[in-house]
Amino acid sequence: MSDRREWIANRRGFLRFLAGTPLLAGAGVLPSLTEKLWGQNDSPDTLIGAAEEALNVFDFEPAAKTQMLPAHYGYTVSGTDGDETVLANRTGFERFRIRARRMVDVRQVDTATRIFGERWETPIALSPVGGQGKYHPEGEVVSARGARAGGHTQILSTQTSRTVEDVTAARGAPVWFQLYPSNHWHIAEGLTRRAEQAGCPVVAITVDRAAPRNMETFERYRRMDTADCAACHIEGPPEERLRNRAMWTGIDLTGVESTQASGLTWDFVERLKSTTSMRVMLKGIVTAQDAALCLQHGVDGIIVSNHGGRAEASGRSTIESLPEIVSTVRGRIPVLIDGGFRRGTDIFKALALGADAVCVGRPYVWGLGSFGQAGVEQVLSILSEEFRRVMQEVGVTSIAQINGSYIEPA
Ligand SMILES: Cc1cc2nc3c(=O)[nH]c(=O)nc-3n(C[C@H](O)[C@H](O)[C@H](O)COP(=O)(O)O)c2cc1C
Repeated sequence: MSDRREWIANRRGFLRFLAGTPLLAGAGVLPSLTEKLWGQNDSPDTLIGAAEEALNVFDFEPAAKTQMLPAHYGYTVSGTDGDETVLANRTGFERFRIRARRMVDVRQVDTATRIFGERWETPIALSPVGGQGKYHPEGEVVSARGARAGGHTQILSTQTSRTVEDVTAARGAPVWFQLYPSNHWHIAEGLTRRAEQAGCPVVAITVDRAAPRNMETFERYRRMDTADCAACHIEGPPEERLRNRAMWTGIDLTGVESTQASGLTWDFVERLKSTTSMRVMLKGIVTAQDAALCLQHGVDGIIVSNHGGRAEASGRSTIESLPEIVSTVRGRIPVLIDGGFRRGTDIFKALALGADAVCVGRPYVWGLGSFGQAGVEQVLSILSEEFRRVMQEVGVTSIAQINGSYIEPA
């Protein structure tokens, strides 16, 4: 038996032992969300011991779970209330079926596309996920190396644990910057200027975090975590808590309440647009009405998103929100989408419904948390390969050929 196989066998044996020992079960007491929502096998027998053993991106979640503190796992997996919108983001894909064509030569398939004139190798980007230091000591820098391997665009969170300068260097190309504007213009302006100076071509304002969140799954896991949170998380007023975060150093934080922006309105978009040369996107648009307002206010692009089911208990999936936005925008600005993308078929459905590209959130941080850079690379490679295979299955050889004739309501 090779060393690696032996290690996996030992680890499985150990996990089986833990699973049978209720008081020691720790992070295993509650099922992973993968298991809860989709009945995916979360048993130690199928736990992967290396990134290349994964059959699909779901395999990374239980693997990451074994490496993480319960509170960190719970925070990542959680939606709001009873996770209804997280579930909806997955089941929404079942409302659409793919229509496959035959007799097309698909020996050569090109997955490349163009967004804002830039060539993307695949229409798959990395959604901004804050605080990636909890998945890997080098956090977003390692995600950047993983994204670089497959040529994926990375969107960096305001809440990044590593600086935009370090992440850009690791990615070897400009990253996009996600902005939590807070309720204070001078803070939004400071963050934006720094991202612009680091070479970010796009700023994506997250507009779906107006309300405080009730994250019950997170709270359940947090309660069973015995770690000393104060050892890493600074307690005290928001000003103190934010001051040491990678993007917030050097910014005047006087009066800040949180990163949340309950007072955000359309005049902020115009003000930001007149301040920066970066393209301004809005992340979190889910209705035709708001898509129309985006056009009216000169927004350069939209990310259809409900924050991975973490911002609202609407129970409405992003894939179901997409068609009304596409028909409002009519190709005038790029429309990206995230929320529950786990399969090549999901990506194909979004493109057939008119999206220009998709983003993924949790899958790549499960990859990061379980196997570091190899995990991120493998998650993105599985999604890219599945997507390429779907293109072949349904008889298209380029992204431009994917249109509404390849999809129907289920
Ligand atoms: C742990 C976690 C942290 C996140 N942090 C941010 C963030 O800092 N800014 C942001 O705009 N969205 C954030 N998101 C939302 C993602 O950008 C994205 O919308 C969502 O994860 C997509 O859904 P998926 O995880 O099902 O792929 C976060 C999501 C998760 C799971």
